[in-house]
Amino acid sequence: MENITLLNVKDQEQAAQQVCKMIQGQLDEGKLDVLGLATGSTMIPIYKKWVESELSFEKVTTFNLDEYVGLHAENKNSYAYFMQEHLFSKKKFKRSFIPNGVANNLEEECAAYEKRLREYPLDVQLLGIGENGHIAFNEPGTSFDSVTHLTTLTESTLGVNSTFFDPDETIPRTALTMGISSVLAAKKIILIAFGERKRFALEKLLEGKETVEYPVTALNGHGDVTVITDLGYLI
Ligand code: GLP
Repeated sequence: MENITLLNVKDQEQAAQQVCKMIQGQLDEGKLDVLGLATGSTMIPIYKKWVESELSFEKVTTFNLDEYVGLHAENKNSYAYFMQEHLFSKKKFKRSFIPNGVANNLEEECAAYEKRLREYPLDVQLLGIGENGHIAFNEPGTSFDSVTHLTTLTESTLGVNSTFFDPDETIPRTALTMGISSVLAAKKIILIAFGERKRFALEKLLEGKETVEYPVTALNGHGDVTVITDLGYLI
């Protein structure tokens, strides 16, 4: 699996240090103008480390992977809110794009987002992984040729992600997400998978086969992927 570099770390702190080092390296070499960002609990220590670091993102444009449909940026469960809380309010970026989940015309929003992605090609994309092997909100069965689109979340994702919502809130059943081909267009991909609940999905990737049943396996068709994990795999 020569296209995947596996970095085993002992904890999230060490993972955050590794990501910081990689990002610093890319910035130093002048290879980081456009950065793809992710949300989820895995990213919290990563962004915390960036905030505490000397990293300068003032010349960096960012794109987020996805957003729930129907949630405004003021809603604390929106990914726009997450990014503001953990990163954008604390570190300056040149400009940042997140799919607008409250756009009047969601199809147009997706097309415009994809067009903008093509105008600003991603240098590095950060990725988490869903327990069912999803990347961004590309659920099992999504075509590897997919671009930014409106998707319906699976029961598995709704179950896992609803734990972030208060009991009286309902989790949106649809979301806007960069497609698998939008993600694969990034020159460099850094995937972070932490904890036993990610083992199954990570194993699917490390088996080396590509299957739409597990969207993360699309990364096997990419030439530059680094996986950072505490699951102790050797390949
Ligand atoms: C959501 C996001 C994914 C993310 C996943 C994992 O479903 N759409 O981009 O990878 O959560 O989240 P966590 O890091 O909380 O496990």
